[in-house]
Amino acid sequence: MMNTYRSHSVRETEEIAEQFAKTLHPGDVVAYTGDLGAGKTAFTRGMARGLGIADEVASPTFALVHEYRGSVILYHFDMYRITDFDDLYSTGFFDYLDDPNGILAIEWSENIDGVLPPGTITVAFTVLGEEEREIKISREE
Ligand SMILES: Nc1ncnc2c1ncn2[C@@H]1O[C@H](COP(=O)(O)OP(=O)(O)OP(=O)(O)O)[C@@H](O)[C@H]1O
Ligand SMILES: [Mg+2]
Repeated sequence: MMNTYRSHSVRETEEIAEQFAKTLHPGDVVAYTGDLGAGKTAFTRGMARGLGIADEVASPTFALVHEYRGSVILYHFDMYRITDFDDLYSTGFFDYLDDPNGILAIEWSENIDGVLPPGTITVAFTVLGEEEREIKISREE
């Protein structure tokens, strides 16, 4: 299944994500692809809202992972600096992956391509203009 959206503002990206979040289930893995400033963190902010999480969502660039707790736990990763398996292992990624109550949202999933589980939902961002973004959501069957 694949859905393609066109966003014209941060707010629209957040709204697309908020609606998308309502289709998610505990255990889902959401892998983002797309450039710096494409809107991955903005999308995660909308996703958190859609999951009923009130926390402020910020980029996990330095911490590598942020946890947000609502009716589910949202684990928000930034794999920008992850270059090898040892790095990935030390983030605790595989333990988070095993949490049946968690939803994982992964920025720079390009860097961990080989370890994404079957059924991963891909959200691909393309920058089309200053405020225009294409957001393509595909769910592997
Ligand atoms: N339609 C849009 N959707 C999302 N962000 C937009 C849009 N138009 C402009 N922007 C701007 O693009 C930037 C998106 O930033 P954001 O941190 O969400 O990107 P990111 O993909 O997470 O980048 P990084 O890879 O650096 O973490 C913000 O500065 C935001 O204001
Ligand atoms: Mg980001």
